[in-house]
Amino acid sequence: MKQGKIDALLGIVFGDEGKGKVVDYFTPKYDIVARFAGGPNAGHTIIFDGKKFVLRSIPSGIFNDNTLNIIGNGCVIAPDLFYIEAKELENAGYDIRKRLHISKRAHLILPTHRALDRAYETLKGKNKIGTTGKGIGPAYSDKAARIGIRVGDILDNFEEKYNALKARHARILDDLNYEYDIAEEEKTWLEGVEYMRTLTLSDTEIEINNALAEGKNILAEGAQGSMLDLDHGTYPMVSSSSTTCGGVCTGLGVAPTKIDQVFGIFKAYSTRVGSGPFPVELFDKTGDKIREIGHEYGAVTGRNRRCGWLDLVALKYAAMLNGVTQLIMMKSDVLDDFETIKVCTAYQKDGQRTTDMPYDLNGWEAVNEELEGWNCDLTQMKSESEFPKALSDYIAFIEKYMGIPVTIVSVGPDRTATIIRN
Ligand code: GDP
Ligand code: IMO
Ligand code: MG
Repeated sequence: MKQGKIDALLGIVFGDEGKGKVVDYFTPKYDIVARFAGGPNAGHTIIFDGKKFVLRSIPSGIFNDNTLNIIGNGCVIAPDLFYIEAKELENAGYDIRKRLHISKRAHLILPTHRALDRAYETLKGKNKIGTTGKGIGPAYSDKAARIGIRVGDILDNFEEKYNALKARHARILDDLNYEYDIAEEEKTWLEGVEYMRTLTLSDTEIEINNALAEGKNILAEGAQGSMLDLDHGTYPMVSSSSTTCGGVCTGLGVAPTKIDQVFGIFKAYSTRVGSGPFPVELFDKTGDKIREIGHEYGAVTGRNRRCGWLDLVALKYAAMLNGVTQLIMMKSDVLDDFETIKVCTAYQKDGQRTTDMPYDLNGWEAVNEELEGWNCDLTQMKSESEFPKALSDYIAFIEKYMGIPVTIVSVGPDRTATIIRN
């Protein structure tokens, strides 16, 4: 029998590229959609039939009746937030029990992990990362320190394990003199654990590999973006997981030889939420205009997203790290009303110029090239043949720099506002 394949859809910049929208759009073509990294720091927005959902831990394939969704071993999961998210979907008529499996090897985020996240951020003062406060760093740290609690642990002697790790965290928080109160959230958290016990908790790496052997196709849904990757992002202003293509292998338990297409998704401009270097950032009215039109406020935290022009240096670095085979350009409509559009094609610092991602991005400035804006409404367009010349030129410029085709252009938040290029 023909082997199935696994495709990956990866945010290749600083997250919030529109992964949720495109995964949902692609889902009917796949038997399984699987998250391999991150947790409720993600916020993936999906809009269709006048409905809007923001998913944090549950894969964006959940709206299709015939697709199995998997939360893989590389993920971290907060039972309380997961419970709230699952209930919202169940109330909207989606059968979570039937459509979702969770890896027994994924790690739990405890309420005290969130307290630690807040404590460490407070301690860092002006050097804070600007995390989402969801306990991501502390949960992955415990995983690496080999003291974490895994999803499978909730099925056996759980209370003892939970209390031991909670007590360990309490000692650290006391040492830090950090005041916290988790009483309320702990209640919902424990309810969430109860709820999780009623779901299918499985060896998802075996399920996935069996599915591939049966000729089924799988889509790995990225979270965050390549520039937030623990190894390759703008360390230390990064998240704590492997958000790049290697993370697909470790976070789902699949061999690299099983990966076929790698979709690199980016916005027609750049955003970043949280601290850290961002050479293309605009501090002027243009940046404000992009933020306003693009509604660039965090789906999880509501924070202002920092905005700037497209950064091809970062995009090219990410394409290299991930082996991107196709590019997907999102939110093109946000640039509908600009006379000119700039694109960063190099960085400069102290008279030096580079097109390679520097080890330390701090202090590097964008070198921009200017292109003509298209100055027309893209939102009603249905095919590439309707594209204004300036948009086609913009896409051609990106493709030439990257050496990779842009195969999809998104012109609005709704599932239907998606244009496939031939
Ligand atoms: P994700 O984390 O990568 O899934 O992205 P987010 O959901 O955090 O952020 C993307 C935002 O852009 C959401 O509010 C989407 O509804 C919206 N969006 C996605 N594609 C488009 C598009 O082509 N045009 C516009 N205007 N908005 C879009
Ligand atoms: P999606 O999947 C954008 C950022 C945070 C912070 C840094 C570390 O929706 O694209 P963390 O809570 O992970 O320890 O925060 O990473 N960050 C994201 N930014 N989109 C995301 O996810 C993000 N997840 C984390 O803002 O700067
Ligand atoms: Mg998001």
